[in-house]
Amino acid sequence: MSMELWRQVDDYVAQRLTPPDAVLEAALARSEEAGLPSIQVTPGQGKFLHVLARACGAQTILEIGTLGAYSTIWLARALPPTGRLISLESNAKHVDVARRNLSDAGLAELVEVRRGAALDSLAKLSAEGAGPFDLVFIDADKQHSADYFEQVLPLCRLGALIVVDNVVRGGDLADPRTEDAITQGAQRLHDYLASERRATATTLQTVGGKGYDGMLLAVVTET
Ligand code: SAH
Ligand code: DHB
Ligand code: MG
Repeated sequence: MSMELWRQVDDYVAQRLTPPDAVLEAALARSEEAGLPSIQVTPGQGKFLHVLARACGAQTILEIGTLGAYSTIWLARALPPTGRLISLESNAKHVDVARRNLSDAGLAELVEVRRGAALDSLAKLSAEGAGPFDLVFIDADKQHSADYFEQVLPLCRLGALIVVDNVVRGGDLADPRTEDAITQGAQRLHDYLASERRATATTLQTVGGKGYDGMLLAVVTET
């Protein structure tokens, strides 16, 4: 079992289920050209998010952490024409690249990228009475994942799905002595959810082109 094998299987699946897509490839090319880090979800994970959004019939989606809008495009493509996606991003260059990628993807009408620190943007969304959201994808600065989760709960409908990326980190999640900030953020999220009665959650471990990691999946059980 190796990274090489995980990549081969990712490629096998991608060849059949995520055929070459000019829009997504152009979005990645622009992101790379602009010097954005290549830390977006893999094609298989993007398709996974898309399938989840379709499975819950999402009409309203909130994303925290846009980068170049690669995951955003996968999610927004699951929306009906009347749907809406709001994506929060603090980095001005990322916002600029993401907006151009979304425009070229024909998704500018459905998607709004809001610039600012996510906790501030979430407070504003709350004050505006935004939502309720059917699906939330949390994928920004991982030390705040638990805070984001707690802040988005009141913006969700009963039964909404909340997905959090990068919670396993090569298995470090189970290491109580880890000093990795991303892993510590994932541990704090799990500790928080152990006593959060308004949601029920599990963590799905994944392997693939981006190595060994995982996503936390939660359903809102009380609003
Ligand atoms: N969801 C994207 C990847 C996001 S990478 C994809 O899979 O395609 C994480 C992003 O979160 C980066 O663009 C980073 O700038 C942004 N970010 C980091 N801290 C943030 C904060 N406090 N508020 C909003 N965005 C933040
Ligand atoms: C990394 C990966 C991610 O998916 C992300 O959202 C942020 C960082 C990383 O591997 O560093
Ligand atoms: Mg991520």
